Amino acid sequence: MLQMFHSTIAYAVLALLLVSTINAFMGISAKRNFTKKDRSLALVALIFSHIQLVVGLALWFNSPVGKAALGQMSNPALRLTAMEHPLINIIALVLITIGWSKHKKEESSNGKFKKIAYLYAIGLVLILSRIPWNLWFPAS
Ligand code: HEM
Ligand code: HEM
Repeated sequence: MLQMFHSTIAYAVLALLLVSTINAFMGISAKRNFTKKDRSLALVALIFSHIQLVVGLALWFNSPVGKAALGQMSNPALRLTAMEHPLINIIALVLITIGWSKHKKEESSNGKFKKIAYLYAIGLVLILSRIPWNLWFPAS
């Protein structure tokens, strides 16, 4: 059930991070005001990312390819799910959360957009670099 939950929320996490990042870059280039809508978009992306983190941690402790596979690091598929995906995603989550926290301290609209755009973008790229694609979309 955890695995199903994690692989389903993954769509929302990736879509929301992508949309809020593009939105923030567009805000920078249009030099427009940071509105309530921009804040909500970034916040929803943050919340889904945090939920995914909690579910991911629970999955890691329970899945046969999570913590239980830590002893089999010479197998690339197991190294990905037991180590690389969790570790890189936790780093990505920290960066995204820093982006959120820092945007609040910025006075200008441009400053707010920049914090979200840059840190969410790095987080998203890190997440995309370590998705276990063949588990998510198994070749039938
Ligand atoms: C391992 C679990 C979690 C950790 C370590 C964590 C950590 C954090 C941190 C460090 C912040 C930044 C606070 C700030 O901006 O000053 C934050 C913000 C937030 N988190 Fe989490 N979180 C976790 C789970 C969750 C879950 C499960 C949810 C929702 C169901 C959630 C919802 C939020 C929200 C809404 C904020 C934004 C608060 C705001 O600034 O308005 N988090 N979290
Ligand atoms: C934050 C962004 C994250 C995304 C978008 C994401 C996405 C995914 C996806 C798509 C899969 C394949 C699921 C499937 O079998 O269909 C997966 C598997 C997995 N994820 Fe994540 N994940 C994230 C974070 C995390 C974190 C933070 C952890 C642990 C701390 C974690 C632990 C795992 C584990 C252990 C698996 C393998 C589960 C299994 O097949 O039994 N994930 N993840």
